[in-house]
Amino acid sequence: MRISVIGSGYVGLVTGTCLADWGHEVVCVDRDPAKIELLTNGGVPIYEPGLEQMIAANVARGRLSFTRDLAAALAGSDVVFIAVGTPPRASDGEADLSFVYDVARDIGEAIDGYTVVVCKSTVPVGTGDVVERIISQVRPDADVTVVSNPEFLREGSAIEDFTKPDRVVIGTEDERAREIMLAVYEQVRANGQPILITKRRTAELIKYAANAFLAAKLSFINEIADLCEHVDADVDEVAEGIGLDSRIGAKFLKAGPGFGGSCFPKDTLALLRTAQDHGVDMRLVETTVSVNDARKRRMALKIMDAVGGSVEGKTVAVLGLTFKANTDDMRASPSLPVVELLQRAGATVRAYDPEGMPQARPLMSDVEFTDDPYTCAKGCDAVVLMTDWDEFQSLDLERLRGLVRTPVFVDLRNVYAPDKLVKHGFTAVGIGRST
Ligand code: UGA
Repeated sequence: MRISVIGSGYVGLVTGTCLADWGHEVVCVDRDPAKIELLTNGGVPIYEPGLEQMIAANVARGRLSFTRDLAAALAGSDVVFIAVGTPPRASDGEADLSFVYDVARDIGEAIDGYTVVVCKSTVPVGTGDVVERIISQVRPDADVTVVSNPEFLREGSAIEDFTKPDRVVIGTEDERAREIMLAVYEQVRANGQPILITKRRTAELIKYAANAFLAAKLSFINEIADLCEHVDADVDEVAEGIGLDSRIGAKFLKAGPGFGGSCFPKDTLALLRTAQDHGVDMRLVETTVSVNDARKRRMALKIMDAVGGSVEGKTVAVLGLTFKANTDDMRASPSLPVVELLQRAGATVRAYDPEGMPQARPLMSDVEFTDDPYTCAKGCDAVVLMTDWDEFQSLDLERLRGLVRTPVFVDLRNVYAPDKLVKHGFTAVGIGRST
């Protein structure tokens, strides 16, 4: 199958590369010349484990290429994926669809022959209808079907999520498009993973419902964590205890500093906006968002409490800045508001992150970035473990203890058993536990 993928960002690159790896002939398109040049020369603009090698292997096999020329890529493509960004609009937080609409226009101008246009970008319900309308305005005789095929990739494990998905959702009511999409995902079918075919609008909503549900699960366990701290219970054990109920499930129950990233914060707000537009009250989703917003302040207060009530004149070492491990993504990372709140309360903040510092630098002022966790902790009054990178799972606590000024360890990811920290002379503060 000949496939073009428009937008060589996170979703587009992973999608295009994995499709090529399955044997399809894929061209990834981006209008950014620097990005295309980098990719053509073997570079990768994002950090995603395994992606660089997979790109190189498929370029070498002649199944994957990169171009700025959308029309050339589309010529002869059976399927075109739209995988451009839908960032939140600064004015109202609603998903900005202008890139999607621009691409729809370009597609209308460039297609020849029957083409399946697939919306992979996360777009509000009804966007598929608009894309279809734009294409037919530009090209009234266009023979296209617009399909919704939401992505469920997690940064850091995107390749695994794409190649071994829990499910693939295809939203189309068109028989021809359905068969073509099933051929695109033949490998998934062969592996026995489910493919769910729905109406286009249903598929669009599945994406938002999935993210909102997962976000609600997180806000729920974070609230339970707060309660645990007051009643001498342990949130990780509560999570295990409820997660063993197969109706609840064990995943996504790790309490922490709140959810961040480019998806949950944006998608929950966008879903609320859709609900508002249709006069539907979504109080659970609303609360999920506000619990998460409040969480950042709570985390800053927790750190202040840990050092005796005030961080004024104190130095805090923050280990991990990205919104989660195995990504360099700083978007909506809880570290951003937490660090700012600490600074406003008079703290000096030093930080270290294995991958995120280049992205973090322009977003954080007056932070001293260091080269490793030990330099970061030197002379500090509290070590705050913010992101659970592998590198932080086995810190040399003895060495760390010898470097800090005051031995306080605030573990916002519950990486360390409190006893272990105490044994090394630290005052241990975690999430959802009393010690
Ligand atoms: C999320 C979804 O998991 C993907 O299925 C979806 O495709 C993607 O959004 C998207 O819409 O594109 P992602 O944002 O990469 O993926 O990150 P997650 O691994 O889901 O983590 C989200 C946030 O929740 C992070 O801040 C993470 O630290 C936090 N989290 C996650 C917890 O605090 N506890 C957990 O148990 C799990």
